[in-house]
Amino acid sequence: MEFKELVRSRRSCRSFEPTAVSEEQIEKILEAGQWAPSPMNLQPWEFVVVADPEMKTRIRQVGEQARQQVIDGGGPGWAKKYGMDFLEQAPVLIVVICNPRKGGLGGFFGQTLGAMQAACACVQNMMLAAADLGLGSLWFTFFDPEAVRAVLGVPVEKEVVAIVPIGQPAQQSEPPPRKAPRMHQGRYSSSD
Ligand SMILES: Cc1cc2nc3c(=O)[nH]c(=O)nc-3n(C[C@H](O)[C@H](O)[C@H](O)COP(=O)(O)O)c2cc1C
Repeated sequence: MEFKELVRSRRSCRSFEPTAVSEEQIEKILEAGQWAPSPMNLQPWEFVVVADPEMKTRIRQVGEQARQQVIDGGGPGWAKKYGMDFLEQAPVLIVVICNPRKGGLGGFFGQTLGAMQAACACVQNMMLAAADLGLGSLWFTFFDPEAVRAVLGVPVEKEVVAIVPIGQPAQQSEPPPRKAPRMHQGRYSSSD
């Protein structure tokens, strides 16, 4: 797909068909992630590919718990209506994990998010690759990372970045509108 079309056609997908995602498609998506930039090319990401229905149900439960926590804590009203069926519907969930110790030199300057930044670039590459394959995906973070860690057995020194459900979209959604870029010329100016 042409680049501009690809970037614009990627949509957050929250409803999936049960159609399987092939090993080959998953490999292509992971390979795209692997080509993301990272500090000192440390490639701090790892992936847990979850296709087992029981495991997906456990992940959904983690999401539902987070949702309840937000509702109980007086969070936004939409949380009550936010369904998480897609965590079980999607044939595969790719959980992206990063190693914060692989964040490059930013740590010398109090900038400790290098590994997380790289992992985010990796997630975006993966989602664009999924869109290029005609698949839907979602950058999902509505969970307590510690709960996901417990379900998947992620070691304490690694961080859970995102859960990316992937599959055939069940419906095409309209793109939410974008604002004009907030651009400053040459130097930051609050009046720009
Ligand atoms: C860091 C990050 C976290 C997100 N977390 C969630 C999430 O937990 N649940 C969800 O439904 N969408 C989540 N999204 C998706 C955004 O809601 C979505 O990208 C935005 O509304 C724009 O829609 P589009 O992706 O279709 O262009 C997340 C996106 C990002 C970048």
